[in-house]
Parts: sequence; C-alpha cells; structure tokens
Amino acid sequence: MAKTMTEDMKTGWRFIDNDGAFRLDAPHRTSYLYFPLVNEAGMMSVVTPTLHGDCKTGQNSFLTLPVSVEDLHNTRSARNFWVRIAGYGPWSATGNSARQLAEAGEAENQDVALEAGLLWHKVIRESRAAGLRAEVTNFVPASSDQVELMQVVLTNTGDRPLTLTPTAAVPIYGRSADNLRDHRHVTSLLHRIRTVRHGVTVQPTLTFDERGHRPNTVTYAVLGAEGDGAPPRSFFPVVEDFIGEGGNLEWPAAVVQQGMTGAPAGSAVDGYEAIGALRFADVTLSPGESRAYVLILAVAADGFKQSGIEASAGINELVQRYGSAARFAEWLDRTRAHWQAKVAPLAFHTADPRFDGWLKWVTVQPFLRRLFGNSFVPYHDYGRGGRGWRDLWQDCLALLMLEPEPVHDLLFSSFAGVRMDGSNATIIGSRPGEFMADRNNIPRVWMDHGAWPYLTTRLYIDRSGDLGFLLQEQTYFKDAHINRCQAHDEAWSAEQGTLLRTRPGAIARGSVLEHLLVQHLTAFFNAGAAGNILLEGADWNDGMDMARERGESVAFSALYAGNLADLGQLVLALGRLGVTEVQLAAELLPLLDTLAEPVNYADVTARQDRLHRYFATCSHTISGDKIKVRPADLGRDLAAKADWLTAHLRQHEWITDRAGYGWFNGYYDNDGQRVERPDGPHGVRMTLTGQVFALMGGIASDTQAQAIVRSADRYLYEHRLGGYRLNTDFGGMQFNLGRCFGFAFGHKENGAMFSHMAVMYANALYRRGLVREGFRVLDGIYQHCADFATARIYPGLPEYISERGRGLYPWLTGSASWYLLTLLNEVFGVRGELGDLVLAPKLVAAQFDERGQAAVAAQFAGRQIEIVYHNPRRLEFGAYAIRRIAADGVDLPGARVDQGVRIAREVIAALGTPAALRLDIELDEG
Ligand code: G1P
Repeated sequence: MAKTMTEDMKTGWRFIDNDGAFRLDAPHRTSYLYFPLVNEAGMMSVVTPTLHGDCKTGQNSFLTLPVSVEDLHNTRSARNFWVRIAGYGPWSATGNSARQLAEAGEAENQDVALEAGLLWHKVIRESRAAGLRAEVTNFVPASSDQVELMQVVLTNTGDRPLTLTPTAAVPIYGRSADNLRDHRHVTSLLHRIRTVRHGVTVQPTLTFDERGHRPNTVTYAVLGAEGDGAPPRSFFPVVEDFIGEGGNLEWPAAVVQQGMTGAPAGSAVDGYEAIGALRFADVTLSPGESRAYVLILAVAADGFKQSGIEASAGINELVQRYGSAARFAEWLDRTRAHWQAKVAPLAFHTADPRFDGWLKWVTVQPFLRRLFGNSFVPYHDYGRGGRGWRDLWQDCLALLMLEPEPVHDLLFSSFAGVRMDGSNATIIGSRPGEFMADRNNIPRVWMDHGAWPYLTTRLYIDRSGDLGFLLQEQTYFKDAHINRCQAHDEAWSAEQGTLLRTRPGAIARGSVLEHLLVQHLTAFFNAGAAGNILLEGADWNDGMDMARERGESVAFSALYAGNLADLGQLVLALGRLGVTEVQLAAELLPLLDTLAEPVNYADVTARQDRLHRYFATCSHTISGDKIKVRPADLGRDLAAKADWLTAHLRQHEWITDRAGYGWFNGYYDNDGQRVERPDGPHGVRMTLTGQVFALMGGIASDTQAQAIVRSADRYLYEHRLGGYRLNTDFGGMQFNLGRCFGFAFGHKENGAMFSHMAVMYANALYRRGLVREGFRVLDGIYQHCADFATARIYPGLPEYISERGRGLYPWLTGSASWYLLTLLNEVFGVRGELGDLVLAPKLVAAQFDERGQAAVAAQFAGRQIEIVYHNPRRLEFGAYAIRRIAADGVDLPGARVDQGVRIAREVIAALGTPAALRLDIELDEG
C-alpha cells in the first residue's frame, strides 16, 4: 500500500550520510520542489522529482523549454525515459506517462523516492505492477563542458524475465527564452536537425531575440549510450513525429504504438520543433538484472561542426568523456568531491546533527547564487542573467569565509563599478570587474548600494589583516548618468568607454578608501526634509520604489551612520602601515566639510547644496588633482558625521505607542510623511528593516535595543512563519511608498518572513549581546525550514516564508551568506580583527552536544582550523568564559578582549607548518 499523503509529509527529508545527502519519500507528491545542478563552465540546470525543470547556459541559449514555477506542473515537456514493457505497455522511468499520472494518488502503483546531495539528484521509481525499478541520476559534471548528465538504470525486480524497448526523450527547445512568446513557431523554422551516431543535434541558422537577427553559432544536442557505450539504434528527432497525430509527450505514438522504428543516424530534417528521442535496442532482463543508459544534454557555444553520421570531433569527445556507465560513475564521484571541497572550509558541529547537515546546504547557496545570479531557477523568472550590485557584495561575505583567495580580486575589481557621484553601475557582467553602461536607460539609484561594499571590505580586512587594501588604486565607472541619476551628461558618449577620466584625459584612479568615502559622503549629504538620507529609487527593499522625490530611508541612514563611525575608526589603523597622509581626489574636500568649510548638518538645504557643488565638479571628468589628508583628521570628520546622524536618529525617529512599546521609524513616504506609527486606521505600522541597522550600527541605545526586541516580538513575530515579518499590515497599496504594498500582505517584500532581513536581525541582536534573542531568530528559521510538512522545501534557506508557511524562492538568497556569517562571527564567535583571531563564543547551552562540545572548522590566516569549545557542564551563555586555549595540546597566549580572547596573527602563523590546526578551548564559569 502506498503511504498516505500525511505520512509522506510528516516524514519529510532525512539525511542519509554526513555529507548532506538526504532522502525524501514520495517527492512527486509535493509541488514546486526543484533542485539546482550547475558548473563553473556555465551549464545551469534545474530538475524536479519528475525530471521537469530546464537546462540552459544563458538567457539566449536554453537547451530545453524555459520554465517558470507554474510550468513545473503545467508542461509536458520534461526529460523523459520510456520503456515499453512486453506484456505491460509503456512506462515512464521519470513518472511522466498519462497512465502513471492518472494513477497518482491513493491507488498509486509505484514507489518513488528521491535522494540528493551536493550536487547530484537521483529519483528511484519502482513499478510494483511491472516489476521494474528505475534509478534516474542527474548531475552537471564539474568539468569545462556545458553538459548535464543523466543515467537511467533499469532493474528487473520481478521473478520472470522482462523484455523492454527503451526510448529516451528530451525535447530540445534550442533558442532564446525570449522566443517563448516571441516567434515561437517561426524560430522552429530556423532549426537544422541532424541525427548522429549517438543522438540528435539542433543548430538554428539564426537567432531572433533582443540582440536582433544574427547568425547563430550555438548547437544543442541530446546524446545517449548504453552502459557499455553502445549507441542508440534509431531516432525520432521531430516532436510531431514522436508524439503522432493526437498524441502528446506523456503518451507519444513513437512509444505507445508498436513497431515504430525511427530514423537512422545520418538523417537531416529542417524547420521543426525538435526532440532528442533516442531508441535503444530491445533488451531482456532476467530477474535481478540491470541495464544502464547514459544521456548527455549538451550545449556547444561554437557549434559542433558535424558532418553526417560521424558527427564532429566535439560530439565524439563528449561521448568518449561521458558516454558510458563507468564514465558516468567517475564523473559523479569527481563532481561530488568537487562540491564537498567547496563547502569543506566551513563546517559546524552542534548538538543537532540535522542542523549541521542543513547548514551544508546553506553553505552551498552562495556558490549557487554566484553561478545562477538571481535568474534561471523557476521562481526567479524575472532575471535575464547577470547579478545585482547588492547581491554581489552580499555573496562575497560567505565567499570570504569559503574561498578567501579569489575573493580579494573580486572585491577589488568590483570597486571599479562605483561612479564618482556615489552611485554605481547596475549592469554587471559575468567576469569580475565587468560593468556595462545602462542599455535600458532606466536611471535608478538604490540608496543602500553604497553601504554594502564597506561591510564586505571590513570583513575582508578583519580576516586578512590586509589594511593596505584600502590604499590600492582603482578606476571609477562612467556613463551618461550623473548626479545620482538625476541628470544626464550630454558630453558623454558610449565610444568614450566606461572609465572616468581626468580633465587632461588620463584614466582617473583613487584608492579603495576613496571609493568608500565617495559612497558614504555623497549619501550623507543627500538629505531629505526630515534630515535622513533620501530613499531615491529604493533601498534594500526593492519594492520601496514609489517615493523617489521625498521618500527617506531612515533604516539605511542608520546603516550609513554605523559605517561612517566604523570607517572613521578604521582609517586610524592606517597608522600601523606608517601612513601619515592619504591622497584623495581634490573634489572630495568640500564633503569633508569639517576640514575646510563646515556645514550645519541639521540644515537640509545646506547639505544638499554642498552635495550639488560636489556633483558639479565631477559630472564629466575630474581634475586629477589630489589632496593629502591625515588619517586623524579624516577619522574626526567621519566621526562628526556619524555622531550627528546617530543623535538625529535617536532623537527624531524613535516612536512609542500607548502600550509602552518603542521602535525606530524606518521610512518617510513621498509626501514627506513618517511611515511607521503607533496607531492609525490599520493599527500599528512597524518594519523590521527600520530596527535592524539601528541595532547593528549601535544607533539604538541599550535601552532602545531591549525595547525593539519587545516590540518586534509583539508586532512582527509569527510562530507559524518561523519568525519575524518584514512589516506589519499597512492596509493596502501605498502609492506614495512602493509597489511591494501591492503584493498581498504576508508575501515577499510585504510582510513575509523574509529570510535576509530576519537573519540580519539575528546578526544585529548578537552584536548587541542579545544572545538568546538572536538564537531564537536563527533557530526559528531553521526549525521552520526543516519542517517539511509546512515549508515544503529541500534543506536550505528560501528567500521567504509565505503566509501559508511554504518556503518560496529557494536556493538563491543573500540570507545564506548572512546566516553563515552570523554563525561563525557571532554564535561561534570566531572572527578576525584587523588580522588577529578573536574567539568570543555566544553559544547557548542547548547548542553544546552531550559531551558539552561545539565545534567549527573554518579558514583563518591561510589555514584550516578546527575550533572546539569544551563546556562539559553545559553552562549557559553568560555563565561561561574562556579559561584555556590549546593548539594541538599546547597552551596558546591570548589577550582578553570584550567577552573573549584575541590571538595575534603571528601566534597562529608560528604554529608550525601543518595546514590543518586544532584549537581546544575550555569554557568554564567566568
Ligand atoms: C532579494 C534580492 C535582494 C533584495 C531583497 C529585498 O533578496 O536578492 O537584493 O535586497 O530581495 O528586495 P534575497 O533573495 O537575496 O534574499
């Protein structure tokens, strides 16, 4: 008997090894599940329990039909593998036959389970009636080829011989996603379809998409072989022939009708919708016997230059490399090892092994976002590739913990995207440091963009000690948008390129520090009527986009205030490098107003005037002149700004209600009205965003911090959503604030439990020493996500939890980076401070295992370190302090710092040569 649906749901996924592999029974009975498969070569696949999903290398090169989330259950176009079983009829190894789908439900005649790991996907399906089991494994090999591999292993589970006719069937879409609703049919007329020895290839003659009509060079192929490498017998390369009149992909004539033989290798058909339908030789399996088939789904950017049956060297190479069961197994092993190595630098051990396993999936998420951007998975159906500025810097947070070496270059080159007006390029290319002029001409500035690079840079410097990074010189981005997209530089044309120049014509360069100053100073002076920083096109919340003239983001004013204070401190540390003066673009001096001509910050007009005076000096070129400023003077100027803004926020933006709750207002709308309020027609208005940065940057006093926690618990916390909503219900559309209020309440940026902000809230709480409160946030999110019956997602963090508790937009979210950062830096308290290692754990008693241990493996100072905390009495946070630190058994000297111990980098460096090191830290009553 099939289990009931409730039983399946309760079971959920469970880990089957220590490397994150999990098993889920009856996965096909949960909708919207999908799994990413990807490699650095640019193959991006998504696969579902029924082998739906898609496979592409970019917006203009989809091998299979592009899918959005509703298509996962609407389309019949999926990877399929048919077997016609003598005496039984057609059966789909992927579950996609009209008969199996009709049977789905209580009387289902099959057992289905999913097993998946980093990054492979296997569906095991057994037909009890036919006595046949299929194990279908998919992965994208960690190689330089744009291919997805799929293996189907058929096993006779009955007690009599089974005679089978196998047919693989993968529809080949072979064109741009744009063509889905733009010349879908006409573009099929471009298809040149060929059958080669091992499969079907499609090379369209032209591409019709946003780039215009151009000769096409991309070839798409579905190739296959039996386990021993034997090629298919024949092919059905045209969809209409494969399905037959009145048929469809779930009941195709080529499979359903007996005696359909197909075309031989070496045939050509032009101008039809294509399918990689590969007929293999009939086979008789004795009881217990298995037979494997391997499929290669390939995209060749420069074509395969095939000729007749022999195909091209390219195709033959792919078949040789991947086209047998042995090769498939080898590549699967390599690919698993590749992904395990990616996540290995950061591993956690707590009292809950399920949590530790779940974290492996969170750890892989930043890699996924680096490879997919915010596109190319079914919920993320708005993206066309590329990545956003904010996300670029967020993802680097985790990458700094996971692969520090290349991230230095990525950080450095990304600063080349900053414009001299403090805004930045919005179209980011796929290579590090590649920025393009805004071809859509949608001038928009997200006011928070200038704040993120500092956080990432600070993390980098703290972990590496590379203060000199601040002094490295980088170029600036230049296009027609000036004055933070409020004006156009008529003198600029695309031919001039995207590098800012000096008046004499040289390429303008400034230090990383100068870039950071440009970002923070322009923001500081860009004041709105209430004295906070203008919201401009939006802030972190992309949906706050309808208050461009008068809106203010108090929330991000707080982040800028915190950054200004922190940067003011950091520049003082430059003294360690013997730096007595820093060189800055002369144009910046008026913005360092306290050094020359002070501005009354409370006078909003004066602030704006000063900003516009600055804009006028750098709208087309800059002088190239430099001024020299002493770090102490610079630090003082930044501190003055931070202090003013902090005091302003504390005094003017703190609101309280009659019940005695208090919190920070986060926004002003386009009428210049304060958005958050204690009461109103729709009740309390509160945002989580408004609290997070006030806490994080020390804007909220300790008393205010406590009050925020109480208010968030009262107004934003929702147990059934796993945590804190992004906002309370504002009661409908807010045309003077943003489109997000057009979303139903409780969804996405309008009041969902939005993981990124919730995790940053946790981070801020920990930083403020509100440890139990922070733990509650992190634990709540995990518990919810791991509760499959409610969240209905695979292990990992989704972008948000919807009103019904379901996890949405899985895999690609900046919250993953922040979750890892918070665990490492705050919870385990393993962090860098200008290159030294600080250990200051904020673990709660429940996080120590039964032996009283909690451990983390992390990279620091170029080596892998395992940090094991010993708290044998499982004392609660607050009751313990670090008593002793031993490196591989030898006591280590360390200086006491606030709640922890600082170990100088040199001490770690002096600990011999082994790459791996173990630190044992005894915790006892403090
Ligand atoms: C997404 C975007 C992020 C944006 C956020 C809120 O969050 O990627 O840039 O700030 O929505 O609009 P994420 O998916 O990273 O959690």
